[in-house]
Amino acid sequence: MKEKILIIDDDINLTKVLSYQLEKQGYQVSVANRGKDGLERFKKLSPEVVLLDIQMPDLSGIKVLEEIRRLDQQVVVIMITAYGSVENALEACRLGANDYITKPFGQEQLFFVIEKALQVQKLEQENSQLRQELVSKYRFENMVAKSSRMEDVLRMVGQVAQSDATVLILGESGTGKELIARAIHYNSPRKEKPLITVNCPSIPENLLESELFGHVKGAFTGAVKDRKGKFELADGGTIFLDEIGDLPESLQAKLLRVLQEQEFERLGDSQVIKVDVRVIAATNKDLFKQVQEGKFREDLYYRLSVVPIVLPPLRDRKEEIPYLVDFFLQRYGKGKQFTITPEALEALQSYDWPGNIRELENAIERAVILANENQITLQSLPPHVTGALPQPTIARDVFSEMEDLSLELLEKRAITEALRRSGGNQTRAAQLLNIPRHVLLYRMKKLGVDPAKL
Ligand SMILES: Nc1ncnc2c1ncn2[C@@H]1O[C@H](COP(=O)(O)OP(=O)(O)OP(=O)(O)O)[C@@H](O)[C@H]1O
Ligand SMILES: [Mg+2]
Repeated sequence: MKEKILIIDDDINLTKVLSYQLEKQGYQVSVANRGKDGLERFKKLSPEVVLLDIQMPDLSGIKVLEEIRRLDQQVVVIMITAYGSVENALEACRLGANDYITKPFGQEQLFFVIEKALQVQKLEQENSQLRQELVSKYRFENMVAKSSRMEDVLRMVGQVAQSDATVLILGESGTGKELIARAIHYNSPRKEKPLITVNCPSIPENLLESELFGHVKGAFTGAVKDRKGKFELADGGTIFLDEIGDLPESLQAKLLRVLQEQEFERLGDSQVIKVDVRVIAATNKDLFKQVQEGKFREDLYYRLSVVPIVLPPLRDRKEEIPYLVDFFLQRYGKGKQFTITPEALEALQSYDWPGNIRELENAIERAVILANENQITLQSLPPHVTGALPQPTIARDVFSEMEDLSLELLEKRAITEALRRSGGNQTRAAQLLNIPRHVLLYRMKKLGVDPAKL
């Protein structure tokens, strides 16, 4: 059965024709020939669609519309207007009508307007549902914070989320910087607007400016049409500049201006674009040291670090390891109840976790696959974690075992280790190695590192 449609129009002949046509299409139709009567019926029937005449003798269509919107935000309202009074119809749309149709109209046109309005409404509902899901995904419940340092961090996140202040998140790789950036956005008044992430080092320098600020057609070879940058796409929302320490100097000045004035120009254009964007930046580098070395602008550093949030490495909050283990066992256990032996937990707590929470997460994901009878034992953990293999630090693992100190072999080991710690994520591996991603890909190919065989 199709949707319920209520027609409110004082033109009795028209309502008869419309009911006939719409019923033939399968809709369930009711009719009212007066505004007041229409409202009564509306309350009783809760239709999905209202076809509403703008001009009626007792209560004008606009008044009826206002009352309907007060009662129901969702219902689709389509105004019926006489030829020549489109202005009223536009006014009605401003007041919350979904669309209008001008008399005289054919039945195809009517069906089209109704179907289109219903489709748009459905899309909007799906979107807002998706956003709701996203919002709940990044609420704090989905994050472990059982140490006093992490509780402080979350308190801070809750406070800054309410403001538009620029936030700089500092922490080693895998400590949860991106997770915190998301938590800030999805707990802020901007949560219904986009959160746009830019991973600075993964984009070649010559493309990064256009990626961030957009370009106009012909700005450079290959710019075949105008393109919006991430700052424009994030308008009203938040932009997350990941690995800001890698932002080339050429772009630091332009970013400073956005932070100060909230304005910029697209590449190849002189028109100034204004945006309302909240900036969150993150880095695993010592940004202050970069300032001292002259690699990062001091003024930009101070602009960015209005509110710094420091994420402690996992080795400094080991009391969280049992909670994190439980959390990841639930995430990867696919509904099964896993247990962990005391020795295995002990091993996890003794290890130093250079790759921080991401490394622990990867270890648990792997352990779940290797576990027997839903129990995590020492055998299900990576050998270097349990001490069965020496920790692959450069000093012990590489030099002592290598017969000749071949630089190539050394490089291959470093790349393999980085890929292991990043769980095969090449962007992260490149960050760990402190080289651009395209260089990593090139070196992997040259040295014959096959990610599938790690
Ligand atoms: N407190 C936490 N509770 C639960 N999971 C966490 C927590 N912190 C981090 N994680 C998980 O660890 C992984 C790494 O986190 P994230 O990507 O945010 O780290 P990062 O600091 O951005 O790392 P990188 O510097 O390598 O980009 C993610 O899967 C994230 O969900
Ligand atoms: Mg990150």
